[in-house]
Amino acid sequence: MFDLPVLAPQPSLTSDFLTPRLHDNVLASSMNAHAASANAPKLYVETYGCQMNVSDSEIVKGVMNQSGYAMTDKPDDADVIFVNTCAIRDNAEKKVHERLMHLKYFKKRRKDLVVGVLGCMAERMRDELMETKQIVDLVVGPDEYRRLPELVERAGGGTKGIAVKLSRVETYDDIEPLRTEGISAWISIMRGCDKFCTFCVVPFTRGRERSRAAHLIVDEAKRLHDAGFKEISLLGQNVNSYKDEAENIDFADLLRQTARAVPQMRIRYTTSHPYDMSDKLIATMAEYDNICKYIHLPVQSGSDRVLQAMNRHYTVEHYKERIRKIREYMPKCALSTDIIVGFPTETVEEHRMTFDLMAEVRYDGAFMFLYSPRERTKAWKMEDDISHDEKVRRLNEIIEQQQRIAGEINQIELGTVQHVLVEGPSRRNPETEWQGRTDTNKIVIFPHLTDKNTSTHAGYVVGDMINIHVERASAAILYGQII
Ligand code: 5AD
Ligand code: SF4
Repeated sequence: MFDLPVLAPQPSLTSDFLTPRLHDNVLASSMNAHAASANAPKLYVETYGCQMNVSDSEIVKGVMNQSGYAMTDKPDDADVIFVNTCAIRDNAEKKVHERLMHLKYFKKRRKDLVVGVLGCMAERMRDELMETKQIVDLVVGPDEYRRLPELVERAGGGTKGIAVKLSRVETYDDIEPLRTEGISAWISIMRGCDKFCTFCVVPFTRGRERSRAAHLIVDEAKRLHDAGFKEISLLGQNVNSYKDEAENIDFADLLRQTARAVPQMRIRYTTSHPYDMSDKLIATMAEYDNICKYIHLPVQSGSDRVLQAMNRHYTVEHYKERIRKIREYMPKCALSTDIIVGFPTETVEEHRMTFDLMAEVRYDGAFMFLYSPRERTKAWKMEDDISHDEKVRRLNEIIEQQQRIAGEINQIELGTVQHVLVEGPSRRNPETEWQGRTDTNKIVIFPHLTDKNTSTHAGYVVGDMINIHVERASAAILYGQII
């Protein structure tokens, strides 16, 4: 029930939720959309899970658009519906199952509708949904998206399709993603993961780690700048192990090249692994003003024994030393983390160590999860021996503490002036309030005063940088006035 992220500014990769940026649901008129003919078939894509999936859905739309499909944001209008799925935890899978059951309704109304399941759940879906329940026509894994147009066409002719092979080389380097309009864009820089944390299904659903060529990533950043985007996030399951082997470029080099190529853009990245959070990367972040001072550094546990059982490759002391280094180079850098409670055999004392570590580091945000056994992982073979109630108790304990700490951290910002990238109307009061983000990834809300004669605000538009004087703060949000 509480397996939810709390107060975190941005979800890490593979989380089973999304924080769509404002305007994310506006379909691209886009810098790269092919003009589809008036009677072109229409595709609707629904995305679950992490930013990597959001980015993959943009690749899928790019592939389909190349083959003449137009996009729609209404499933009722669609000739083809894709559900891009997440398998990271059981509750993520349940959500997708529920949604697929709803899609039956669309299938009943339109016999020729093609429904495809994409992404991390693909492999597990095929028997149940394709053969038994007959809801799904296609099941396509994360490395087979190039085949989608062909598979959809065959499905239209009545042949169900399965394509779930994982690749050691596929990076979709040459595919131009069809992005949603807005100011923030994702760029996938690598795929897969070789870390094999014992709780994690990602290496099995997304396959082995492989990186894109650095020069293509930098070119993509430049094109995004020219198309009016203001911020890019470099994405990978573990970006610190990015490597362009041909050019001998590591992640710190790539970050530097990108920061130099688009000095006017804000640059973010996620997710980092503490094992290879290098001095070079920290120094590079500190050197460039346009690299945002925010690091998501999942620790998972505060106990060395549990970390070892999780196959995390670092100790608590190593982690704390990395945090000290980050703060030495960037005293104002915001930090967030991921925590799993109730990993098999975790004792109350070991949980206490996690609690204490969080109090010591004082994170700006944390994503906290109940351990969820995943088939095929090493931990799956261990007994899931902590009861659900005890897991929830441990989770509540750290949530409560984290909320207090984040609130205290934000109180320190009172009276400061924050440089904010304007995103648009706030969710809660879109008429009178707008929101933006600091480079530390905190949401800032400010009054939006429109000119009564022109109905516009003379001072700023979406995508502008403005200064806000912070006057109030909650654990999750800063509030202030434009200066
Ligand atoms: N159970 C609970 N949380 C998990 N995560 C990954 N696998 C599991 C699992 N089986 C969490 C980790 C990771 C984040 C993306 O999701 O904390 O960092
Ligand atoms: Fe999963 Fe660990 Fe890889 Fe992250 S680093 S995707 S938690 S295996």
